[in-house]
Parts: sequence; structure tokens; C-alpha cells
Amino acid sequence: MNIPAFGVGTFRLQGQAVIDSVRNALDLGYRAIDTAQIYENEAEVGQAIAESGVPREALFVTTKIWVPNYARDKLIPSLKDSLAKLRSDYADLTLIHWPAPGNGVSIEEFMSALAEAKTQGLTRQIGISNFPIAETRAAIAAVGREQIATNQIELSPYLQNRKLAAFLQEQGIPVTSYMTLAYGKVLKDPVIGQIAQRHDATTAQVALAWALQLGYAVIPSSTKRENLASNLLAQDLRLTDEDMAQIAALERNGREVSPEGLAAQWD
Ligand SMILES: NC(=O)c1ccc[n+]([C@@H]2O[C@H](COP(=O)([O-])OP(=O)(O)OC[C@H]3O[C@@H](n4cnc5c(N)ncnc54)[C@H](OP(=O)(O)O)[C@@H]3O)[C@@H](O)[C@H]2O)c1
Repeated sequence: MNIPAFGVGTFRLQGQAVIDSVRNALDLGYRAIDTAQIYENEAEVGQAIAESGVPREALFVTTKIWVPNYARDKLIPSLKDSLAKLRSDYADLTLIHWPAPGNGVSIEEFMSALAEAKTQGLTRQIGISNFPIAETRAAIAAVGREQIATNQIELSPYLQNRKLAAFLQEQGIPVTSYMTLAYGKVLKDPVIGQIAQRHDATTAQVALAWALQLGYAVIPSSTKRENLASNLLAQDLRLTDEDMAQIAALERNGREVSPEGLAAQWD
């Protein structure tokens, strides 16, 4: 099984904003939605899906288990709570949100519990998020690499994560790039601006097309229907080798997200 190349993110979106964003996205043709227990918007995502009229089997819904729910006796009940909020019998993909070293639950324990959730039919696929190489190796050791559908990581033109991405590729684990737009920062980049001009495209489309062309899945979020619509068209944009090389040169270790206690040692 594969994961969709293009989805919509919902981080930071609450209440009516997330309902509107997911409703617009589904209306525009998005079929993959990324949420998480900690986003506290699963119920609104579920409402928007129910009201959209799009059949559940046409959708790909991802959620992520939050840190206090990693223990063997908590993970599956917490996923069942998420599913009730999402108004679904299953998730398409369930991720461990952060490695959270030192929270008292081993990678072996939470990955086995997650694999058990899959066996029980609560999630079609399982995966990890924000896992550096060492923690990914431990997750592979726990459940086998073929079980890990993706590692969802921060990856943008300013944080290209080449070492981790190369390792994941070697292992055959697909990369999902989150914050591909660096929460809007890369949209003001002059080099990306020039590439966009050459293609008569937006800077967001260029950044998204760059990630897609490297083989990564993307999940950009937006509160605006016109941005959701134009982002989706990044799938039709073909960047040249020269464009790709110019963007490769923008790397600056521009990490936006690294919460203490949740992140492990980055590669
Ligand atoms: N696994 C994790 O730990 C993790 C962490 C962070 C995020 N994520 C996931 O990844 C998703 C994407 O990340 P993100 O939402 O933080 O950041 P992002 O997609 O990099 O950027 C979103 C920002 O860019 C703006 N934007 C989007 N399209 C635009 C366009 N065409 N033109 C101009 N501005 C545009 C949005 O503003 P407007 O609303 O004004 O369009 C918003 O401020 C999240 O929603 C979440 O689902 C996962």
C-alpha cells in the first residue's frame, strides 16, 4: 500500500476554521487529510468529512498518537477515541507523533501497540513522525520496515534533511514532508520567486513541486480556499534540473520545530 502524494494539513486550525478548511479542500478535490490527537480538531475534521458527502472509502485520513497515550494499555483506547471523533471505524494511517525519549515508554512498546492496532483493523497503515535515523532503526527493529508506511518529518527548501531522507530511501520508507513552506517563510525567498516567475507559478507551488519531484508526500495547510486550490496545482508543475539545483542550494538547516522532551537528537 502507498500513501497519497498530496494531502491537506490541519495543524493550528481549530473550530470553524478547520471545518471550513477541510470542507474547501474536499470540495476542491483533496482526498487526504492530516490531523493528530494533539491538534484537538479531530471532531471538527470528522464533522467536515461527514458533511462533505465524500464517501469514507474515497478518503485517506491520517492521525497521530500523542505522547501520554504511548503506553501499551493506552494507545489502542486513545486511537478508538480518535476514531469516534473522526466518525470512522478506521484510520488510513496512524503515526507516533514524536519519539519523546525519556517518557518511560520504549520504542519497542509503542510500535508493538501500534502494530496491534493495525491487526485489530483500527488503522490500515502505521508509521512514525519526527524520527531521526537511530529511532527509525529502533522502530524497524520493533515491527519490521515493511510495516512503516512513512516517516513524516519537517522538510522544506530551508531544511532539506538530506541525511535522514537518504537513509529512509535506502530503507524503502516513504518520506512525508511537513511544513514544506516553512510555515510561509520560503514563500518570500527571492530564488524561489524567480523560479516561480519563469514558470508562471506561485512560490508555494514551486516549493511543493520541488518536494514532490524528490519523491516526498506533502500536506500543506491553508485557511484560504484560493491557496488550497493553487497549492493542489503544484502537482502539474515540472521543475527543470536547473530549478532543482537552485533550490538544493537554499539549504540552511532552517528547522522550525524541535520541542524539548519530544525531539530526539537530530541527524
Ligand atoms: N508531524 C508533525 O510533528 C507536524 C508538525 C507540523 C506540521 N505538521 C503537519 O503538516 C501540515 C503543514 O504544516 P503547517 O501547516 O505548519 O505549515 P505549512 O504548510 O508549511 O504552511 C502553512 C502556512 O502557509 C500559508 N500558506 C499556505 N499556502 C499558501 C499559499 N499558496 N500562499 C501563501 N501562503 C500560503 C498558510 O497561510 P494561509 O492560511 O493564510 O494560507 C499557513 O500560514 C500541518 O498542517 C500538519 O498537518 C505535522
